[in-house]
Amino acid sequence: MTSERQAGEKVFLFNSDPERGAVFREIFARELPDIEVVQRGDFVLPERVRYLLTWTAPEEIDRYRNLEVLFSIGAGVDQFRPGSVPESVKLVRMVEEGIVRMMQEYVTLGVLSLHRDMPAYREQQWAQEWRARPIPQAPERRLGFLGLGMLAQAAIERLAPFQFPLAGWSRSARDLTGVRCFHGTKQLPEFLAQTDILVCLLPLTDETRGILDARLFEHLPQGAGLVHVGRGPQLDQQALLAALDTGKLSGAVLDVTDPEPLPQGHPLWSHPKVMLTPHIASVTQPHTAARSVIDNIRRHRAGQEPIGLVDRIRGY
Ligand code: GLV
Repeated sequence: MTSERQAGEKVFLFNSDPERGAVFREIFARELPDIEVVQRGDFVLPERVRYLLTWTAPEEIDRYRNLEVLFSIGAGVDQFRPGSVPESVKLVRMVEEGIVRMMQEYVTLGVLSLHRDMPAYREQQWAQEWRARPIPQAPERRLGFLGLGMLAQAAIERLAPFQFPLAGWSRSARDLTGVRCFHGTKQLPEFLAQTDILVCLLPLTDETRGILDARLFEHLPQGAGLVHVGRGPQLDQQALLAALDTGKLSGAVLDVTDPEPLPQGHPLWSHPKVMLTPHIASVTQPHTAARSVIDNIRRHRAGQEPIGLVDRIRGY
């Protein structure tokens, strides 16, 4: 196909798995036929590459001297090392329906699992113990979201009908209907003190690295739960294990660890109060992702800001 094209035509380089790349190619051919989708490993003249979709910046990124936009294949961009993407290139997070829907499902699953005491019932099942446990009703179980970005807001929307009191904390002030909003370092302890199930959906930055530590857990009410769907390095795993062992925390649902994969034999694998999944909460879905990337390319071409454009100073 490449040989039939003009050397001057623009290329979208899909630097990920060929299965999803094939879906992108098909949808681009219909929707944006003037852009050729080229997969990783295909031959392409580097100067034709205007758009790149990738998980990390490839070694040879400087050869793509006409590169305009780099799309992260994931919602996060912390995997791009500082300086690995030229300043002239727009860096864009993946914002697409599939990621949002899957995150809504997973956070709802995690919150309801902790709300309904599933880690304790799992232990009872293993011990063949048939015993009902006391349970607070949803309107008495306070949910707190660390991070109030798009994914957190989408999860909040799904959880709202259950009638949990809702609160959230973000770096800078937010105003969300039906959510008690806190912001900044000063208000963090007050937010934590009124949170029974804490959901972490923060981006990984220098400020959020290690934020889920012993000091933070201390501010939570006795027996609080944690759903962690941010990034592994935000969590002090030893502090979590200690908080679970003393009963400060009653359970944790973790989709991210540090490192990933979690090494064999690590105590988090077998801790009875931990429900662990291998970073699968939310996965970019090719059909919806291709459409959102195409919309963003159209915006970019029309001189508008792409949705999900990363602020390089803030880091997300
Ligand atoms: C997954 O963690 C992502 O960044 O999409």
